[in-house]
Amino acid sequence: MRIGFVGLGIMGSRMAARLLGQGHELAVWNRTAGKAAPLAARGARAAPSPAEAARDAEVLFSMLSTPEAVRESAVARPDTFLPSLRPGRIWADCTTVDPASCRAMAREAAARGVRFVEAPVAGSLLPAERGELVFLAGGEAADVEEVRPLLLAMGKKVVHGGPVGAGSAMKLAVNILLGGAMTSFAEALRLGSALGVPRATLFEALLGVPAAAPFLAGKRRKIEEGEYGAEFPLRWLHKDLHLAATAAYAEGIALPVTNAMKELLALAAGAGLGEQDISAVCAFLQRGKLP
Ligand SMILES: NC(=O)c1ccc[n+]([C@@H]2O[C@H](COP(=O)([O-])OP(=O)(O)OC[C@H]3O[C@@H](n4cnc5c(N)ncnc54)[C@H](OP(=O)(O)O)[C@@H]3O)[C@@H](O)[C@H]2O)c1
Repeated sequence: MRIGFVGLGIMGSRMAARLLGQGHELAVWNRTAGKAAPLAARGARAAPSPAEAARDAEVLFSMLSTPEAVRESAVARPDTFLPSLRPGRIWADCTTVDPASCRAMAREAAARGVRFVEAPVAGSLLPAERGELVFLAGGEAADVEEVRPLLLAMGKKVVHGGPVGAGSAMKLAVNILLGGAMTSFAEALRLGSALGVPRATLFEALLGVPAAAPFLAGKRRKIEEGEYGAEFPLRWLHKDLHLAATAAYAEGIALPVTNAMKELLALAAGAGLGEQDISAVCAFLQRGKLP
């Protein structure tokens, strides 16, 4: 199949590589052009603009950072991809955005006769590399079915939650769990160390209990070695919790714990850890002690 792929960051580069590995014909674009080089070396066509990545595509995937980045690359600038996708083709956006932004993009697509599927993902760098992501999809059932084989080339499961907006809703809910697990683990480590328990003993105690999320074990080496190269950049978790908070505001509901986590991540990002992995929140909380 002819596929366009826009956004080759930590996740997009690995997802596009999976599609290429399945024998699809790929045209790829990234704002920082150099990131397309490894895929081009494996046979993808490096397009000079989002519009060129979309021109011949039967399905166009986007994996960008924020709702604003999606809008900019899709419609808001010259050479964006939506106007050059042919009517009847599918745009599948995998970016983590909020349901309202997603529905706005679906309307932009519909105005051009393009079918829109949202397919944000649960899973990080390694699941993306191994094709083990879980896609949380929203859109018309027939459209989701049409892209399902492509999603399953990049992941192990597709959950179709309903119309456009349902995928983002599930994704933001998942990231409340993720943020809660990461930030409370950072606090648990902080308290245990302050009370004198050796770090290695603490890891043994905390990671073995049912209350610990399984992904935390995969963060152990980073935290122990203080090596916080990003698998999931902290600033994007901050963004996701902000999107959850604004979606909650629009619905007139309260998310007190999510908002507290969001502010903790804002402080960590403000201290220069935004581009580091989410586990860097552990390093942030280790700082400072009252006299
Ligand atoms: N990493 C994870 O574990 C993970 C897991 C699940 C979901 N997600 C979500 O997946 C999305 C991508 O995450 P990631 O970790 O791959 O992030 P990333 O490595 O920071 O990649 C972000 C991508 O967006 C592009 N971009 C940013 N602003 C842009 C703009 N204004 N115009 C055009 N392109 C723009 C970047 O281009 P440049 O290369 O030029 O900066 C890059 O290709 C985010 O929504 C994130 O929340 C991430």
